[in-house]
Amino acid sequence: MHDDGYFDERVAARYDDSSAEMFDPAVVDPVVDLLVELAGHGRALELGIGTGRIALPLTQRGVPVHGIELSNAMAARLRAKPGGEDIGVTIGDFATTSVDGTFSVAYLVFNTIMNLTTQAEQVACFRNVSAHLEPGGCFVIEVGVPGLQRLPPGETIRAFHVSETRWGLDEFDVAVQGLTSHHFTIVDGKLERVSIPFRYAWPAELDLMAELAGMRLRERWSGWKREPFTSDSRKHVSVWEKPAV
Ligand SMILES: C[S@@+](CC[C@H](N)C(=O)[O-])C[C@H]1O[C@@H](n2cnc3c(N)ncnc32)[C@H](O)[C@@H]1O
Repeated sequence: MHDDGYFDERVAARYDDSSAEMFDPAVVDPVVDLLVELAGHGRALELGIGTGRIALPLTQRGVPVHGIELSNAMAARLRAKPGGEDIGVTIGDFATTSVDGTFSVAYLVFNTIMNLTTQAEQVACFRNVSAHLEPGGCFVIEVGVPGLQRLPPGETIRAFHVSETRWGLDEFDVAVQGLTSHHFTIVDGKLERVSIPFRYAWPAELDLMAELAGMRLRERWSGWKREPFTSDSRKHVSVWEKPAV
């Protein structure tokens, strides 16, 4: 693995295009609306800020945002965008990196908690966030519900994207809550492969991590428009809060 983690220059160069559907205002606006509300008059901390998909529009709505990001290549893409220079980014691991000041909201979207591939790292991340939140502040995570119900018995691999030029396969290792997403893309006529390891976690395990970090669950929805979270939900948006006293 490169110093930039799995989001090195090759991945960063096509991140916005390959995730184009996630940049659609229909996807971004509800995220920003909710974060504006949770931020109130305070500052927001984005873990894994990437190329600024959420941070840039959130800043434009008047919320000061600071980011923590492992990948220099991703941060460089953010800086190159209009308004990107105004967003502070600390290069480091969001499980352990400290930044100055406190925040009214911290957020970790687009499944990025799963980029921490051990339970210990995920717990450390919750503790790190809690240390940065002001009393009454919130931590928001958007992450998929582990897709094991869609895996046929005995199988370990499931396709999550199939198109003319791109194929995505998720490979599960249930014993260690491991999930490797394999992305195969045809670029300039050649097949390129990027495989990224994740650790999946059930909502209840994340709640326990929050509790270990001194936070408690305030809300859980299945989407950013506060859709109800049910047994059929494929993802959740969860909000934990640090007690006000
Ligand atoms: C799926 S992208 C999401 C980027 C952005 N938040 C968005 O929603 O478009 C995940 C980002 O998290 C960063 N990342 C992954 N693990 C990290 C870690 N341990 N510490 C800091 N950044 C990390 C990656 O480099 C990448 O930029």
